[in-house]
Amino acid sequence: MPISPYLLLPRASYGRGLSAVTSPAPSGSGAAAEIPVAEDAQLFAVPFAADLAPEVGLPLPAAALLAHYEAKGEAGEVVEVPVANGETVGRVLLYGIGDGSAGALRKAGAAVARRGKGRDAIRIVLPEGPVAAFVEGALLATYTFRIGEVKSPPVAVIEFVGDGAEAEVARGEVIAKAVALARDLANMPSSVKTPAWLAERAVEQGVTAKVWDEEELRAGRFGGIVAVGQGSANPPRLIRLSYEPEGATGHVVLVGKGITYDTGGLSLKPTEGMKFMKTDMAGGAVVIAVLGALAALGVRVRVTGLIAAAENAFSGTAQRPSDVITQYGGRTVEVLNTDAEGRLVMADALAYADAELDPDVMVDIATLTGAIGIALGKDLGAVFASDDDLAAELAGAGESTGERLWRMPLIDDYVPALDSSVADLANIEVGSSYGAGSVTAALFLREFTGKRPWAHLDIAGVGRSSADEGIFSKGATGYGVRLLLEWLSSR
Ligand code: BES
Ligand code: MN
Ligand code: ZN
Repeated sequence: MPISPYLLLPRASYGRGLSAVTSPAPSGSGAAAEIPVAEDAQLFAVPFAADLAPEVGLPLPAAALLAHYEAKGEAGEVVEVPVANGETVGRVLLYGIGDGSAGALRKAGAAVARRGKGRDAIRIVLPEGPVAAFVEGALLATYTFRIGEVKSPPVAVIEFVGDGAEAEVARGEVIAKAVALARDLANMPSSVKTPAWLAERAVEQGVTAKVWDEEELRAGRFGGIVAVGQGSANPPRLIRLSYEPEGATGHVVLVGKGITYDTGGLSLKPTEGMKFMKTDMAGGAVVIAVLGALAALGVRVRVTGLIAAAENAFSGTAQRPSDVITQYGGRTVEVLNTDAEGRLVMADALAYADAELDPDVMVDIATLTGAIGIALGKDLGAVFASDDDLAAELAGAGESTGERLWRMPLIDDYVPALDSSVADLANIEVGSSYGAGSVTAALFLREFTGKRPWAHLDIAGVGRSSADEGIFSKGATGYGVRLLLEWLSSR
């Protein structure tokens, strides 16, 4: 019987061995009719329903059991019922699906899959409704990243059982796999994850790729990427990935921040602020993972991904606070704080896209400012946009995928905060009286977007999870992959 091994990254090798496949539900009364309780004391899970008793071997009618356990059928609720399994005690998991919405099913899938922890297999009878979200939740909840032996492995195999659900299961699997790739890349220690390494992973995604090395960046006048990368022994890269389906109608450019480690540079971060900075390329990871999944999802729009990759290191060759650099396109910037490096690499990529790629829309995604985590916390990403429709589309995609976005303002009054006396722009607010660090960072980026519809997603607050919870594992979240795939699929 086809099954789905979902053990991503047991030894930090990403994206392997994942293939979720459905089995048809046998005909008869109840979705789970005649499916034996998994033979080898594995787990077997079915949605809450009143008429399951004879088929799944429950000791009492399901309704009586649910009443006994005071189960309400909420999404995320799982009731474990012992059943006779030959000489041994087997288990059936009854899971709630709440209102049956995508959000509820995603949560339900995660809760059920988490109950499989440490087991070889779990067989899950699919609920009715948006099954892809359920599958997505189940697969993502079992995500694990560990260098070396996995101490507390998730369930090794998930088998989904349901009639006619193959396409939805496959879709959920493609999306979960893309998120897992983004998480893998962001979780990888920066001793491995150099800009060149990140470029190698990007090139593996099966789309057309071009990579600029340090010399080519210098020759191409990508002054921001070069300046940020010049302090590191691991030189910078600009990565371009192109997805060009036949008969494409529009062209979207996605730009991701790919800082493979952010020490702050000479404006050095304290250890507390620095220790999570291996995930400062989370936006770039999202762009790589999204580009890799477009073909499998049949997206019809042309998409170009740009990942501006550099290590912001502290050294004798690093740029200094007060240096003036020239961004792609010729604008000069006074670097007053080398820790505001993300906007410098992003500006080059946005200016390049505007000048050379002629996109209809540009969307960038970046762990840009600590301030956005203060403003919106860890459950809401930020969207800044020059276009109301674009902001609404992205927020809508965020709503339906559970990667919620809150629109933030691009306040023109704050533009003078970025005035410099020696260059066209300063990279941070001159003087400390302005505040709104996420807004001024977004305004800085806007300077490089031409007149094109553009949106900026600041994911600094949501890029990491501090606990294993729901669909998240401690560490990188892959936030943005699902909402961007949803948005691109609907275009
Ligand atoms: N990578 C950081 C932003 C960040 C902070 C991401 C916390 C994730 C968690 C960014 O490069 C940065 O250092 N921003 C500065 C900007 C400041 C110097 C204007 C910040 O947020 O302090
Ligand atoms: Mn920084
Ligand atoms: Zn940074």
